Amino acid sequence: MNILIVGGGGREHALAWKASTCDNVAAVFVAPGNAGTERAAGMENVPIAADNIEALRDFAKNRQIALTIVGPEVPLVAGIVDTFQRAGLRIFGPTAGAAQLEGSKSFCKDFLKRHHIPTAGYEVFTDIAKAREYIATHPLPMVVKADGLAAGKGVVIAQSTEEAINATEQMLHEHRFGDAGNTVVIEEFLEGEELSYICMVDGENILPLATSQDHKARDEGDTGPNTGGMGAYSPANGDTPALQQHVMEEIIKPTVAGMNADGNRFSGFLYAGLMISADGNAKVLEFNVRFGDPETQPILMRLESDLVTLCNAAIDGKLDQQSAQWSKQTAIGVVLAAGGYPDAYTSGDVIDGIDAVDPSVQVFHAGTKIQGGDVVTAGGRVLCVTALGDNIRDAHSSAYKAVDKISWEGVFCRRDIGHRAL
Ligand code: AMP
Ligand code: GLY
Repeated sequence: MNILIVGGGGREHALAWKASTCDNVAAVFVAPGNAGTERAAGMENVPIAADNIEALRDFAKNRQIALTIVGPEVPLVAGIVDTFQRAGLRIFGPTAGAAQLEGSKSFCKDFLKRHHIPTAGYEVFTDIAKAREYIATHPLPMVVKADGLAAGKGVVIAQSTEEAINATEQMLHEHRFGDAGNTVVIEEFLEGEELSYICMVDGENILPLATSQDHKARDEGDTGPNTGGMGAYSPANGDTPALQQHVMEEIIKPTVAGMNADGNRFSGFLYAGLMISADGNAKVLEFNVRFGDPETQPILMRLESDLVTLCNAAIDGKLDQQSAQWSKQTAIGVVLAAGGYPDAYTSGDVIDGIDAVDPSVQVFHAGTKIQGGDVVTAGGRVLCVTALGDNIRDAHSSAYKAVDKISWEGVFCRRDIGHRAL
């Protein structure tokens, strides 16, 4: 069977790597992929952008793709699943209706409120005068969010009233995030420990994946600007069966049932970004309707079950007949980024040392391409070096041993991935 992975980041390299190890898989195509998926045995890049839905559909038809797995949110929100389904193609992911959970923060918040699922108190604004009034009468810090997709950059944690007003004005009036900021959500600041909780959902049944924790801040000690994620490890610190049960009962099950009740049956990876308070209560920060990046990389390193079988069972509404087996080991993924990220960064720098890394470590590519026979940087997050170990210390030491073999002009990473568990 031929598989198509849509996307070109580290998450998609990891999905393609796992899919290529599955039973009865002949070829794994990645659109558009990166240098890692171009060089790997059993994978082939397809020069179609992840949001060119019609071209992807035609490719899937012509090349007899038996299963498509979508990495990024943009094509999901734009309706790639609807288009593929209309063409009779098998694809794992939510429809555009269900993808609104990520595509619109106000949709998500209103959904959570309507179904009594715990989340921060909030209000939705399109009018600056009303927003100002709310800001003036609510406690600081407060969180200002652009409604639509903003590649992880549309969230401002305002420490002062002035900062909150500025952020709101930039979104509503200066169109800093384009149409994504025509509506803003302003919400209560939550304190606690962040946890990513990712499941596979088939519309009805839920298969929880291993827990993980991302490191969103650029610098060590969780300081500096927010990024797409500088590294992740699995299982997450503080992950207990009791917490998992609490999250499942209070958040995940009511979400899947609520989406069904609203006529937006959810099938796909459901990623709940949660804040766990000191007393152990979980609230939803956001939903993503896809696998996390970089969480996918350490999670899939630990997955012992057949990913393609799980996705096919989900498409057929039979996830209740599946279970996922996990390695007892810990996995850590360290992101190597290009100098300047998350702001403007340089591209085209030659990357050295990838082939010197121990073969038990996976170097998942993200922003890379092949140029004149070299692997060069082509994005902000460039690589995610992912290692397994019998415990967090071993995984940490293997991952950084590999990181230290890789270099290019301006490379940087956080040295403390997994610090909360160490
Ligand atoms: P989001 O894209 O909504 O997950 O927001 C990005 C990041 O901002 C989250 O991972 C949190 O670190 C932080 N954040 C978002 N909403 C809140 C909130 N209500 N309270 C505290 N931190 C938040
Ligand atoms: N790592 C965060 C995300 O994928 O949204």
